[in-house]
Amino acid sequence: MEVEMRVPYVDLGSQWLAIKDRAIAKISEVLESGMYLEHPIVNALEERIAVKLGVKFATSVNSGTDALILTLAALGVSRGDELITVPNSFIASVAAIEHVGATTVFVDVGSDHLINVELIEEAITPRTKAIMPVHLEGKMADMVSINQIAKKHGLLIIEDAAQAFGSKFIKYQPGNLSDAACFSFHPLKNLNAAGDGGLIASNNYDLIEKVNVLKNHGQMARNISHRFGFVSRLDSLQAAILDVKLDDLDSIIARRRLNAKMYEVNLRNSNIEMPVVAMDVFHSYHLFVIEINNRDQIQKALKNVGIETKIHYPTLITDQFAYTTKYPEKKWHLPLAKTQCQKILSLPIHENLSELQINYITEHLEKLL
Ligand SMILES: Cc1ncc(COP(=O)(O)O)c(C=O)c1O
Repeated sequence: MEVEMRVPYVDLGSQWLAIKDRAIAKISEVLESGMYLEHPIVNALEERIAVKLGVKFATSVNSGTDALILTLAALGVSRGDELITVPNSFIASVAAIEHVGATTVFVDVGSDHLINVELIEEAITPRTKAIMPVHLEGKMADMVSINQIAKKHGLLIIEDAAQAFGSKFIKYQPGNLSDAACFSFHPLKNLNAAGDGGLIASNNYDLIEKVNVLKNHGQMARNISHRFGFVSRLDSLQAAILDVKLDDLDSIIARRRLNAKMYEVNLRNSNIEMPVVAMDVFHSYHLFVIEINNRDQIQKALKNVGIETKIHYPTLITDQFAYTTKYPEKKWHLPLAKTQCQKILSLPIHENLSELQINYITEHLEKLL
């Protein structure tokens, strides 16, 4: 079949062209300095990000997964502790909990694909140490309610904000209504490195200082380690790239929000379930996720006309082999997450998408439905 137009799900090449001259200047500066690790640009980036998020401190690490693991370790989460989270996230959210020896208690999500706050309290046991909401797709969970519950029961809150840089709940960005927020700078995120990267934002000085030691071999000073640590530093080249990307982030999010509007307008008369966004949420559109019946056939048909889509995520964490082999006896009641898993489809939403491409996608979607 003749394909009229190609719509890639992401377009990292175009992103690079938009920053090339500025990025090369900064990359060159780092390379010429020889400080491939711990160039001052790393701390400068952390300070810029803390200001942007409205938190007191930020420390960078090697990935979003490391941000979660090191935060949990620094907060003293360990064997015997339970953490409450959702099953529809990327595997890393739960991997982090399991890596520090804690266990995961799953609660179902709402129609917005985020933790259903009404189910949290009944999941609390004497072992519960923390709640870990996942701000999936670029939408923040109801942090005000989660805070009230955490305060009432003396629990920690760790936000998995890997997909939510630039998102807000009311006026609060991740890190403001919790003990810590953990971000990912994976190449597919809105604020993205050319490789792996992550960051922890917090108002807790003690936590950030502990992570700073843990992420650098447990060293308090050169060759002085009081505790075995890890190596998880954001390298200077990634910091240079992120520093340039941060300049453009607001306009990138604005463009993604505009794309979302175009989808909404074009599909307003269709029977597609559009993203559900609560009034208090400022959606940064890391993903644009619709729900449809016959998802797999439609995804295939879209592919045949040159439209690339993704599924975030096709398997619940509770159904992943890594989980079922570790906990063969566990059965969770997660009806909404299970149904959504069969219906969700992520459409291209990146900032270099043209109006023509969006129209092409929506025309084909309507035809197929
Ligand atoms: C919700 C969520 N949590 C955690 C992670 C882990 O981040 P990273 O890939 O940077 O380790 C990701 C990244 O894909 C994610 O989407």
